[in-house]
Amino acid sequence: MSIVKINVLTVPADQREVLEQRFASRAGAVEGSDGFEWFELLRPLEGTDQYLVYTRWRSEEDFQNWMSGSMKAAHQGTSGGAEGESGGRPKPAATGSTLWSFEVVQQASPK
Ligand code: HEM
Repeated sequence: MSIVKINVLTVPADQREVLEQRFASRAGAVEGSDGFEWFELLRPLEGTDQYLVYTRWRSEEDFQNWMSGSMKAAHQGTSGGAEGESGGRPKPAATGSTLWSFEVVQQASPK
């Protein structure tokens, strides 16, 4: 079965809108990738300041291929120099990130 890769992004309250806007404008960057199955950006409702970037893939290999290829396009402009600098990139909205990996062992959908 599939594998799930969740990127956990720590986002200060005043940066939430910036983060969501950036994802909204880049969602297309992953959709056409081989083995890509699902993406969700999960906004925390309570108890944490961490957003979950949920992605599901046919295999670990498909995920690794995306990471070493078009992942870079999805992440252009997300880190580096200060906003407005010539040649610089906008400051990240997230202050930290951690990657979680899972394999799907059971699943169900509505009948
Ligand atoms: C599970 C796979 C993913 C990994 C390992 C990953 C990695 C990262 C990392 C390390 C950051 C924070 C550093 C930075 O801002 O450059 C980040 C932020 C971001 N990622 Fe991803 N990402 C993943 C999935 C995705 C997907 C599928 C998309 C597009 C739909 C995406 C779009 C973005 C955007 C827009 C940011 C916002 C940066 C910000 O303003 O803070 N990421 N990602």
